[in-house]
This record gives sequence, C-alpha cells and structure tokens, in this order.
Amino acid sequence: MERKGPVLMGKYELGRLLGQGTFAKVHRARNLETGMSVAIKIVDKERVLKVGMMDQIKREISIMRLVRHPNVVELYEVMATKTKIYIVMEYAKGGELFNKVVKGKLKEDAARRYFQQLISAVDFCHSRGVCHRDLKPENLLLDEHGNLKVTDFGLSALAETKHEDGLLHTTCGTPAYVAPEVINRRGYDGCKTDIWFCGVILYVLLAGYLPFQDSNLMEMYRKIGKGEFKFPNWFAPEVRRLLLKILDPNPSTRISIEKIKEHPWFRKGLDCKPEIVDTEVKELAIVPQTRTPCSNLNAFDIISLSAGFDLSGLFEGKEQKKEVRFTSNKTASTIISKLEDISKRLKMKIKKKDEGLLKIEGSKEGRKGTLEIDAEIFEITPFFHLVEVKKSNGDTLEYQKVMKQDIRPALSDIVWAWQGEPPLQQPLPPPPTTENQESQQFHAAST
Ligand code: ADE
Repeated sequence: MERKGPVLMGKYELGRLLGQGTFAKVHRARNLETGMSVAIKIVDKERVLKVGMMDQIKREISIMRLVRHPNVVELYEVMATKTKIYIVMEYAKGGELFNKVVKGKLKEDAARRYFQQLISAVDFCHSRGVCHRDLKPENLLLDEHGNLKVTDFGLSALAETKHEDGLLHTTCGTPAYVAPEVINRRGYDGCKTDIWFCGVILYVLLAGYLPFQDSNLMEMYRKIGKGEFKFPNWFAPEVRRLLLKILDPNPSTRISIEKIKEHPWFRKGLDCKPEIVDTEVKELAIVPQTRTPCSNLNAFDIISLSAGFDLSGLFEGKEQKKEVRFTSNKTASTIISKLEDISKRLKMKIKKKDEGLLKIEGSKEGRKGTLEIDAEIFEITPFFHLVEVKKSNGDTLEYQKVMKQDIRPALSDIVWAWQGEPPLQQPLPPPPTTENQESQQFHAAST
C-alpha cells in the first residue's frame, strides 16, 4: 500500500486532522497491517501534566473501555510515548449527524431512529455509571451504514474540541445545548444534563433549527433557564408531549431515560422486539442480593481492579498479568450459580468466602500442589458485574488448560465481554435515508 503520512508507533499511518482541542488533536489514520481506518486522539502529555489533569484523563480513558455499544465510538487501543498518549478509536466514516440537518429538517421516522439510537447509547453508558456531561452535536457521528456513533463518552476532560478551521463550533461558544442547571451553576447530575441534550437534539432533528436561540446571549440564557420554547406547527402532538417532559428546566422532575423508552412516540417501530429485562427483574425479586465488595464501586476502584482498565502498563512499561476478567449483565446470584455448576462438572470444590469471593479447588494434587482458582465478583450495578478469575495455587499450565478448555467456554452464556474483546450487541436498525430537504418557515404554535 502506498504510504503518504507519518507513521505512529510503526503501526498507524497518520491522515488528515479531524478536530482539535486544548489537550488533544484527532486525526484520521490507517492501520498499516489491516488497512483499517481509525481515528486517533493524540493527547499532549505536557499540557495535561501542566494543569494537573493526568489522573482524570487516565481515569476517563479507563472508563471509556467499559463502554462498548453499537452506538458509541469504540476505543480500540491506547498507546503512550514519553510525550503523547494515543487513543485509537473507531473511525465514523459518515461524518457528523449535523451535516444532514443543515440541509434541512429530517422526517419524523428518520429523526426517531437517530433519537432511539442516541437514547440507546446514553442509557447504556448511564447504566454503567458513565455520564457524558459534554454532549454536543459534533459528538454525534455516523458510520458508513448511517448508524449514530456517539464519541467522547467519558472523555469530558478531553472535550472542548475545535474544528479544523480553528474555530470553536458555535455550540461551544453559545449555551444552545447546555442544560439550565449547568447555566445556573448549581451542582448538577451529569446524567440529567445528558437527557436535556437529547431533547435539544430531538428538537433540532425535527425542526431544522434550535429550540433556544436568540441573538442576545442573555435572552438565550433566560429562555433556557425557563425552558421557554415554541413548537413549529409540523410537530405532532405525541412528540410535543415527549419534548415538554425532556426539556423540563427542573432536573429533578425531568423525565428519566426509562420513561423516555416507554413513551409511545419513542416506541414506534420498536415494539416487535420485546425487552429481556423481565427475567432478571423477577430473579432479583426472589433471590437475596449477594454482598459484593464494591456495591458502590467508583471509577478509581474499577481501574485498580482490572488490567483491562489499568493503564499503568502504558505509562510505566508492560507486564504480564495472570488474571482474566469479564463483565456480565447478570445478577451476582446467577454468576455464582454458574460458577457452582461449572465446578461441579469439573469435580472441583467451591467455597463462598466473604465479600463476593469464591474459591474453586481441584480434587487431586498436580505438579505444583492442588489447583486453586479465585473468582471475585464486583458489583458495578445490580445487573452489571465485573468478575476477576485468577490462579491462587497450583500449576500455571494446568490452570491455563482448564480455563481455556472448560471454564471460559462454560461461562459464555453469562459473559457480556471478556476484557479486551468486543461484546455481542446488536445495533439498532439504521435510520431511513430519505430526508425532507425543503426549507421550512417557523410557525410558532402554542405549547
Ligand atoms: N472526529 C472526531 N472523532 C472522530 C471519529 N471517531 N471518527 C470520525 N471523525 C471523528
């Protein structure tokens, strides 16, 4: 293949600049081995260190590794040199969603599909304890199939992206997408502000312009603070009702993601696919919750628990880790039952220790004593756990063999993702491509 640009770490050929911020630039790049296009966020370590944000950035990168969803830009790998951190991500080929809207408002079905995908991504990230906090139109990208891809989830320290023209997008310079509670500088819940943003986006997709806009900035602040906006006459009653609930200036009464997902306007076109939460909810109701060591696991805990999230190797030199980790969207009791079944089948003993630790013991002496495996379950949410499996005694080869041939395959139906491997998630169908390109006049309608 012909090479044109500089090569990073002997692996990626750097292409054009996609965006630029205070601490980082984003470039398109090509994996020289596979030919695959990627986007690489190049973070200037010196600038980050100067403002004392290195820990926050490491934490955010680590959290981003938790978030894998078909509508979230995937993080492929993180590399570092003395002066730079390279965050290698999925390249969203279709550009920004807003390039579509500037050509004219979208039809209701197309807007709904994008909104469903946005809510799916935001809901997924929130369920894993990650709020975006800095959602803006330039974070909404499209892949080659027209699927929405949200970028910078969890990377708010690195946000504030300027574009190639060196200008901040108008949205960064104005509060058009900012939630009232952020403007009011009250302590705010990042997840509630993400919901507000989703409402502004839905409005823009359907209207072709912003709900809160005024040439006078103070007036715009006032309108946002009061949640004062008008609907154009082509907004259907059902979507008006939904938007009024999302663009509620009071974050404590603002509609939740759960309720958005139940709303009839949102559900249109989805109801043939039943949700699978039901069995899990029933299970939770009858099985007492196992005490886990980290029922309120925070970002730092997650990082220190998992090699998949631990960036120490990147910054201080790699070392071989023996433990493996997986995430599961099952309850702790389901995970424990599964481990009990597997142990029984392998004729191994299983003992429950305190705080979510299980000890699995072989029945015969091996080359280096009895094989002992520890499985530790950490709760992230009641339906999302991180499980760490490691050898605590015995022969490493025997351990690796039993893991590869027996334990890992037997765990497959409860594993959401092995750390470092992609999850099995189905994307929402892409929005229909037809759009209404005609320009629209604003017709104020009563709310
Ligand atoms: N601009 C910023 N991040 C991007 C990505 N991941 N793909 C395409 N364009 C981008």
